[in-house]
Amino acid sequence: MNPFIAIQAKCRIDASTTFALYIYTRADMSQQPISSNNSPLELTGHQFRQELSQVIDQLVPYIDGLLDGDAWTPHDSPSADITPREPKLGPPCALVDVLDDLFQRRIHPSFSPASGGYLAYVPGGGIPHSAIADLISGIINKYVTVWSVAPGLANIEADVISWFNDLVGFPAGSGGYLTTGGSMANWSAIVTARRVRLGADFSKAIIYTSDQSHHSIIKAAVLAGFPEAHVRLIPCDTTHRINLQELKSTIASDRESGLTPFLITGHAGTTNTGAVDPLQDLATIAQQEQLWFHIDAAYGGFFCLTDQGHQALRGIHLADSITLDPHKGLFLPYGTGCLLVREQATLRQSHQVDAAYLPPFQEDADHVDFCGISPELSRDFRALRIWLPLKLFGWDTFKQYLEQKIKLCTQALEAVKSLDHIQIMSSPQLSTFAFRLVPSDFPSDSESLNSLNINFLERINTQRKIYLSGTTIDGNFLIRICVLGFRTHERHIAQCIDAIESNISPTIENYKSID
Ligand SMILES: Cc1ncc(COP(=O)(O)O)c(C=O)c1O
Repeated sequence: MNPFIAIQAKCRIDASTTFALYIYTRADMSQQPISSNNSPLELTGHQFRQELSQVIDQLVPYIDGLLDGDAWTPHDSPSADITPREPKLGPPCALVDVLDDLFQRRIHPSFSPASGGYLAYVPGGGIPHSAIADLISGIINKYVTVWSVAPGLANIEADVISWFNDLVGFPAGSGGYLTTGGSMANWSAIVTARRVRLGADFSKAIIYTSDQSHHSIIKAAVLAGFPEAHVRLIPCDTTHRINLQELKSTIASDRESGLTPFLITGHAGTTNTGAVDPLQDLATIAQQEQLWFHIDAAYGGFFCLTDQGHQALRGIHLADSITLDPHKGLFLPYGTGCLLVREQATLRQSHQVDAAYLPPFQEDADHVDFCGISPELSRDFRALRIWLPLKLFGWDTFKQYLEQKIKLCTQALEAVKSLDHIQIMSSPQLSTFAFRLVPSDFPSDSESLNSLNINFLERINTQRKIYLSGTTIDGNFLIRICVLGFRTHERHIAQCIDAIESNISPTIENYKSID
């Protein structure tokens, strides 16, 4: 008999005493050889419930604090008491102590991308339903990349991919798989295109993207074996969309020089300003030039659900491959990305390698062996954290949330626009815009304006209820507002506007006093 159960059976004790005894027993058991009577890693259902209830006790106040809690806590703030590194593993400790360390010290000093006031970079989500799905995945721990091993579960991932393909308008025969994020999906797209379109010698192949591209595109190209100099960063127009004439003339001049134009990446929402490239025109150029057309829709892809996004992303269905990031536009926990391809066969062609020790791959296209169409074999069952919330709420709920984000962004834009000394640097094409402080009697050189705006951003973020980030375009430092958190509502936008407005004069005064 499990000694823990034996102790419980003999004593009538309250819950905390039970737990203390359990901890004692666990530490005690670690001194003895492992056997079926002494197996500390094998929790009974009852023990699992007890351990989980301690975790829940920590998570409940944490969840309740996210809506209006701090959007960030700098690591050097007085309230941050970060546990130092532990390069050598110490003796085993009780769960209560480990949780205390995590929740009291390690989690606190950090950005809080799931909080209502987080409007920086691209906000993250972390809907709790997905955490419930992750708990189930971790406990069942099934092998989901070989169809015959867990067909019902592999079908869940295949269904999620079909739903995404429907959403972007890909035809029958399309496919894809779930990655850990957008960077991995971009990398996998370039590797797939290379394996399908180029031979072993791709030393002359050229990749085209805009100068507003996410850095993961360049990284993906380099990791896929292309020299960085073979990634052309095409300049953008005043709305930060790729300049089509520049693209065409660069392709022509590369061909004249004996190089091999190979792939164009378009953007369905850049990170800097949320700009959407003219996807339909890019598709036409890619078709005329016989190039692979990839779209990085990591930030903007799920806006397809909304009427405005559907319009902005016209032509997305013409791509050969698309990066989506459910951990952005579907508000899921980090670790949830996706690569979609127009033809599932291209993934198989580029990834399938047989192995004698694996069951045979499926012939039926409906029975997907994900290990045969992606780089990974053993991995987490990440589809469940998408499937569960979509089954519970349907697309319509997500559509409504995304519509709300577009509306909140427009409200923020109108409010910021009406403030004195503010210049809008890019209007929202989805749910992001950029602005800067340009006082009328202030030196207009970039250096002065940049340091003024860096200081302005620091002041806006000081009170921590909202958090904005900046970027630099054409040498100008800009402040961005990106509305994508599912917990972001009108009151957070009002707080944001208040923080901006109340810091305009103090920032300007501060600079006057330096002069
Ligand atoms: C447009 C774009 N592409 C790619 C990425 C990379 O995605 P991930 O952070 O999931 O790797 C991001 C991240 O913000 C992004 O905004």
